[in-house]
Order: sequence, then structure tokens, then C-alpha cells
Amino acid sequence: MSQLVDQFNRPLRDLRISVTDRCNFRCPYCMPKEVFGPAHAFLRDPQLMSQAEITRIVRAFQQLGVTKVRLTGGEPLLRADVPDLVRSLKQELRVPDLALTTNGWLLEKYAPSLREAGLDRVNVSVDSLQDETAGRMNGLGFKVDRVLRGIDAAAAVGLPVKINCVVQRGVNDGELLELCDYFRARGHTLRFIEFMDVGNTNHWSADRVVPAQEVVSRIAARWPLEPCGPAYRGEVASRYRYRDGGGEIGLIGSVTEPFCRDCHRARLSADGKLFTCLFASLGWDVLGCLRTGATEAELGRYLARIWFGRMDRYSDERAEVLAAGEAREKIEMSYIGG
Ligand code: GTP
Ligand code: 5AD
Ligand code: SF4
Ligand code: SF4
Repeated sequence: MSQLVDQFNRPLRDLRISVTDRCNFRCPYCMPKEVFGPAHAFLRDPQLMSQAEITRIVRAFQQLGVTKVRLTGGEPLLRADVPDLVRSLKQELRVPDLALTTNGWLLEKYAPSLREAGLDRVNVSVDSLQDETAGRMNGLGFKVDRVLRGIDAAAAVGLPVKINCVVQRGVNDGELLELCDYFRARGHTLRFIEFMDVGNTNHWSADRVVPAQEVVSRIAARWPLEPCGPAYRGEVASRYRYRDGGGEIGLIGSVTEPFCRDCHRARLSADGKLFTCLFASLGWDVLGCLRTGATEAELGRYLARIWFGRMDRYSDERAEVLAAGEAREKIEMSYIGG
């Protein structure tokens, strides 16, 4: 079979699966608590993909070239069956690269079972080491030390850890060096993420974005840096190495340095809809297709048709979209898992 590519010649390599749209944090840049309050209708059990359904869907994606799978949320560890899911994706399907993105709150508890089930690695969000800033950025005043203990627990069981830090001007951009210092000492790659205009409710504005190159300059003034190439084609982070041997940092510059050209990612929401872009407004009902009796071959053909027609490149087009004042309805980040 010839390789499946989309309308811009991009193959399908990565699948990000949201296993729940719920989260125990309310980061204002993702799930502002005024919007995601007690009245918010989260997905309920029959709407969510079961572990067996996720496994069947991943098998269909593997036939189309997917080799990397990431479990996300909301907060994926709110689902107690995540270690079982990891086991079936690793042991039954032999997914070569299986990762998890988490806010770390429950990581101390789950790290051993995730490792034992075969998880390959974990990305953990840490926006600040100061309780006051961290509490503001998780929306609920939670202290950061429990997340840091989760990271230590993951490292202790041998899980490679990367740290994600969303940088917002005037909120945590005065703490970059402190974060570098802490994670350099522990050997974890720290990635700074530009604040993105995901969803419709996160009060995004361009002046809150700290451009990736500004972050690099500020850090390099303290610890000289040199660029290093991507670990794999289409990696979202640009990597830099500390010249003194202190490891690496990454910059995820979706706003100022978009990477749509190499975007090989499909996203599955917790209710089994396929989104071909983080900024898409419509999803394809893959779970519905499975539940109405599609065979794996039929599912594969359905997915292949969707990927073949894909033309998304929102981050490349963002400037024009915003300049034209176009109001596009976008999917919420917590629903689709970032
Ligand atoms: P690695 O495999 O470890 O490189 O993971 P990753 O960086 O792809 O995944 P992670 O879940 O840690 O995401 C880090 C940040 O990158 C989050 O803010 C994501 O929303 C963002 N991101 C990941 N993929 C894309 C993408 O395709 N488009 C955009 N715009 N942002 C993305
Ligand atoms: N801009 C950039 N990154 C975001 N994340 C959540 N919302 C945003 C946003 N608006 C990040 C989280 C997590 C990753 C999955 O996405 O902090 O690290
Ligand atoms: Fe939850 Fe992650 Fe969104 Fe924060 S960014 S509200 S931790 S899903
Ligand atoms: Fe891919 Fe859409 Fe992100 Fe561009 S904006 S890199 S197409 S997910």
C-alpha cells in the first residue's frame, strides 16, 4: 500500500487521545473556572470511549501509519483505568512510543503502575515553582510541591520526564531562570510553550504571548545555549542545548514559529471524534462508526478518507484569520487534549 498523506503531503504518524474531558485543575488559559463551573456538562460514561473501543480504534490507526500515541485529557489520570489501557496498547498492540501528558497531581500515586504497564514516557505541566503563581495558573490555588513529588516518583521508576511550561507575559515570565535552574539540576527537559489562542474562552491576546526567541535570549544570557536538531521529524519543540552540558530545553512556538508544515498529528476526543487540527471546529464521529458495527477494515477506510482530505494549517493562517477579524468557532483544548 502506498503511504497515506493529506492534501499537503503530510503522513499520519501521531495520535493524541483524550481519555476524559474532565480536569481537577482550572488553568485560566485552558479551562477558566467561570466557564467550566458546576453547571458545565462534561461527557458521561456511555459517551466516553471504553478501553476496548480505544484499543480497536488505535489498531485501525496503526494500519495507516501511526507509531506514536499520547494519552491526554482534560487530566487523563482522573480515569482509573489508564494503567490498564496502557497495558493493552503496549502488550496487545505494541505501540512503539506511548506517552502521557498530565498535570502531575495524581502522578505520585500512578507512576509505578504506569511504568509497570509499559508506558514509555510522561510530559508534566509546571508553570511556576512559586505557590502563588502556580495557584493562579492552575486556577484553584493548588500548591506545586505535590506535582514535583509526582515528577520525582515518575523519574524514580525510570520514566523519562519532560516538563511543559506555558509562558504568559506578566504572569510567570519573571520565573524562567528559576524553572531552568530547578529542572537542569534534575536532568529533565523543560519546554516553554507560547500561550495559544485555543478554544473560545481563554482570554487570549497577542500581548500575553512571550515569543520563543525572547525566551531563548533571556535564558542564553544566563546559560549560553546552542540549537540542536529535532529528535524526530515534525517535533513540535525546537531544541536547544546548554553549552555547559546541563541538558536541554525546548521551545514550542506555535504562535511565532508555526509548525503546520510537518504536522503529522490526529486527535481523538474522549467521545471518539477525530479532529485533524487542534483548532478545528468539527470532528468526525469515529466512535459512532465503530458502535454502529463498522469492521476494522471499514474503519480504516473511513479514517484514510478523512486524512486524505485534510487541509488544516491554522497556525500558519492565524495572522490572516485574526487580521480579518474572522470569528472561527474552535474546539476547547480540554476536550481535545492539547
Ligand atoms: P513530545 O512527543 O514529547 O514532543 O510531545 P508533544 O510536545 O507533542 O506533546 P505535549 O502534550 O507535551 O504538548 C506540548 C504542547 O504542544 C501543548 O501545548 C500542545 O498543545 C502543543 N502541541 C502539540 N501538538 C501540537 C500541534 O499539532 N499544534 C499546535 N498548535 N500545538 C501542539
Ligand atoms: N496555550 C498553550 N499551551 C496550553 N496548554 C493548555 N492550554 C494552553 C494554551 N492556551 C498546555 C498545557 C499542557 C499541554 C497539553 O497543553 O499546559 O502542558
Ligand atoms: Fe487541566 Fe491541563 Fe487544561 Fe490545566 S491545561 S485545565 S491541567 S487540562
Ligand atoms: Fe497541526 Fe493544526 Fe497545530 Fe498546525 S495548528 S500544527 S495543523 S494541529
